[in-house]
Amino acid sequence: MEKRIAILPGDGIGPEVCEAAVQVLKEIEKLYDHRFEYAYGEIGGSSIDKFGTPLTEETLATCRQCDAVLLGAVGGPKWDQLPGDQRPEKGLLGLRKELQLFANLRPVTIFDALAESSPLKDDIIQGVDVMIVRELTGGLYFGEPRERREVAGDTVAIDTLQYSRSEIERIVRKGFELARERRKLLTSVDKANVLESSRLWREVVDEVAKDYPDVDYSHMLVDNAAMQLVRNPRQFDVMVTENMFGDILSDEASMITGSLGMLPSSSLSAEGPGLFEPIHGSAPDIAGQNSANPLATLSSIALMLAYSFSMQDEANALQDAINQVLNDGYRTADLTNERETALSTTEMTKKVIDALRTKVQ
Ligand code: NAD
Ligand code: IPM
Ligand code: MN
Repeated sequence: MEKRIAILPGDGIGPEVCEAAVQVLKEIEKLYDHRFEYAYGEIGGSSIDKFGTPLTEETLATCRQCDAVLLGAVGGPKWDQLPGDQRPEKGLLGLRKELQLFANLRPVTIFDALAESSPLKDDIIQGVDVMIVRELTGGLYFGEPRERREVAGDTVAIDTLQYSRSEIERIVRKGFELARERRKLLTSVDKANVLESSRLWREVVDEVAKDYPDVDYSHMLVDNAAMQLVRNPRQFDVMVTENMFGDILSDEASMITGSLGMLPSSSLSAEGPGLFEPIHGSAPDIAGQNSANPLATLSSIALMLAYSFSMQDEANALQDAINQVLNDGYRTADLTNERETALSTTEMTKKVIDALRTKVQ
């Protein structure tokens, strides 16, 4: 099969983990006789440095011409003093909005071999398999007005949390559809005791639920959800929530797996290319050291293969290869206290490629 993949490495460890992903994709081409074409584009700080803006029309056009997009990460201290609408993160937000990637799927699964890497107790994390479905193109991230005003000698900053019925409905439907394919349990997370947008959210969930009588659903307040994720994460199957809550809960949930460096994500629209990225950021503290964990990005590639290319065998083989290297005891620095034995990004990538070869050949 022939596919075009846009590669947007971005900043910090972004280029390092994207390079790992491309190595793995090239191996998959060989092993399965596919042809992938790689179209590189700038985004975030690296785009600001070259073109003065975090997202160019050219990068957008490249993405639109591709079957899927891989993104590393954006941001870093170098660009932290820029005004909000010129920051690297704005490039990623613009890309999500332009490609209408409203559904952000963040699967949280436990790797048995990593049980000791998680700060949570073994009996709490055993068997965890949660799909966080995060609304990605609305809410506080995009609401208007977003501004500063001088009011009576004081400075006031305003962000707007806005959702329309249709925006809520499409993401909630996605949540129910996914639950139907899984354990048929859906938890909708909101803050309906305080926020009007959450009260509309709840109303819509109750309406949509009527079309999914086979799915057992419930509402949970976000503060309780944050606590329940640590107390008993096995109670969750699909969690559907708005943009900001999903951002925070997914970072929290990443520690169930032991490291932020393990969690992949896919961002999907109704049509057009999906975007695949690790949930972690550009990790400026370890950038350029060849020490970043590439597995979140490699798992994101597995999601790309499955969701965008319908290459389920290839996706399974890659995920199996990742499991294999973890079972074999290979760890990057974020996953072990024994720093001397930690593998570099490129070494870990090589181990995954070796395991993939063994599995497929
Ligand atoms: P971060 O996710 O970059 O890093 C948090 C901590 O996790 C750091 O200690 C880092 O070293 C570690 N870490 C993250 N990914 C890792 C990996 N693959 N392997 C090993 N360790 C890893 O979050 P932050 O420090 O809050 O943000 C840094 C920058 O990244 C900010 O500019 C932020 O806006 C940006 N950011 C971008 C994205 C994205 O592009 N999707 C996501 C989150 C944060
Ligand atoms: C993520 C990141 C982004 C977000 C930032 C970098 C805009 O934290 O992908 O989780 O908040 O969505
Ligand atoms: Mn985040």
